[in-house]
Amino acid sequence: MTDTPPQQNKLDACAFVIFGASGDLTHRLVIPSLYNLAATGLLPEKFCVVGVARKGMSSDELRDTLLDGLRKFATRPLEDKIANRLLECVTSIEADPRDPDSFDRLKAQLERLEAARNTGGNRLFYLATPPNAFAPIARQLGRTGLLKEEPGAWRRLVVEKPFGTDLASAKALDDELLKLVSEHQIYRIDHYLGKETVQNILVLRFANGMFEPIWNRHHIDHVQITVEEKIGVEQRGSFYDATGALRDMVPNHLFQLLSLVAMEPPARFDAHTVRSEKAEVLAAIQTQSEAEALKNSVRAQYARGRSGDTEIPDYRKTKDVNPDSTTETYAALKLTIDNWRWAGVPFYLRTGKALGLKRTEVAIKFREAPFAMFACTPVEQLAENYLVIGVEPTEGITLQFNTKVPGPTIATSGVEMKFRYKDYFKAEPATGYETLLYDCMIGDNILFQRADSVEAGWKAVQPFLDAWRKAGATGLENYQAGSEGPQAAEELLKRDGRSWRKL
Ligand code: BG6
Repeated sequence: MTDTPPQQNKLDACAFVIFGASGDLTHRLVIPSLYNLAATGLLPEKFCVVGVARKGMSSDELRDTLLDGLRKFATRPLEDKIANRLLECVTSIEADPRDPDSFDRLKAQLERLEAARNTGGNRLFYLATPPNAFAPIARQLGRTGLLKEEPGAWRRLVVEKPFGTDLASAKALDDELLKLVSEHQIYRIDHYLGKETVQNILVLRFANGMFEPIWNRHHIDHVQITVEEKIGVEQRGSFYDATGALRDMVPNHLFQLLSLVAMEPPARFDAHTVRSEKAEVLAAIQTQSEAEALKNSVRAQYARGRSGDTEIPDYRKTKDVNPDSTTETYAALKLTIDNWRWAGVPFYLRTGKALGLKRTEVAIKFREAPFAMFACTPVEQLAENYLVIGVEPTEGITLQFNTKVPGPTIATSGVEMKFRYKDYFKAEPATGYETLLYDCMIGDNILFQRADSVEAGWKAVQPFLDAWRKAGATGLENYQAGSEGPQAAEELLKRDGRSWRKL
């Protein structure tokens, strides 16, 4: 697969073209991230930002709304000099894929701007739009030749999530895009890969000698991946009701965590090798029948409750949600990976909205030590051995093990050894998108999803989607907003003699 862009490794001059310039993502994340890059000297000298929106807006108007956005969402104090220099690069252009002529005009305007700004023809097209606009925009960019790479000038397409809504639609989108550009030109974003703690999983596993020898079915009992959120669906009712917790979180964010934890060691730290290993392990997730998928999953919807200080209404009473909706706001799955490293080791995944805690973590539970030695002592039970990779709110790594309680008799207690990022490294508050945007500009796609990974992810969840759709309201559980989630999720592990890690 030609997924590696020609060697670049430096910050070339470029035009950063954003579709969906008037939207929330642009204001909340893209521009504040570009601001942070500007503040740290990581934007090219010769650079321009082109904001494309369907409804015309003058460049001044766009700059004003982006400045308002920066005031609200910047993660560091705004410095006028930096903000002005960034906004001075911004031009607004109107284009709508339903009006092909507008893309011919866009092309002419962009080429004039590129000449004036001396950006050398390098272009990054960032699709910060609703997903149904990805293919129509790409088609127009393809038709007008704007995506065609030329000697010395790269052309890149950055595609936001969700990439498809199931296996068939993800494949169709890939087929469409790959007719227009090569794989190495597509940057499929998953913001989880922008998180330092997620990137660190590779380093934890492969830059240390002690984990890899025990990172397998001989020593690991099972793996738990948890992404819990306190917020409810809020203003996103219409998107969320058509999507649900599984589609929104599992084939993308949770599978990023799973693939980094479960992949084989890559021979080299380069995009092709790392992404191939990730795709390989996702493809090894055992495909379940619909009956198995029903048995190995829990889905639930939240009912009214309180999370912290926030009163959360019934999911079905949320604005833009169907009052009879059967969309899940919580999903828990049991998956297995059928390869030599993981056969027989369950991977339990859970994610949900409106829960009592915000927590993202991977907990690796090691097999229990033989108890025989303690049988004739007062020790009744040993504490569990977990290695926990904390992503949020605690960024760090915790090892749980048994230790002797000081005293004349033998007694044991579970204790924790904790590493916290903040104790070692000072990091400026950031949006989490900075690295991703910078990498798009230097042509490093290691942190972006390749087509085969995306499709393998959808393939693994498809039986759950199909089985749940057919089951409708049957089997849909309830949980109270602000709680730990549905009781049935506890049962899913209990029946295997296991339980979710408690805080
Ligand atoms: C997004 C989902 O991709 O990720 C949201 O669409 C979710 O529903 C968010 O809230 C979670 O991201 P994070 O970084 O807060 O875990």
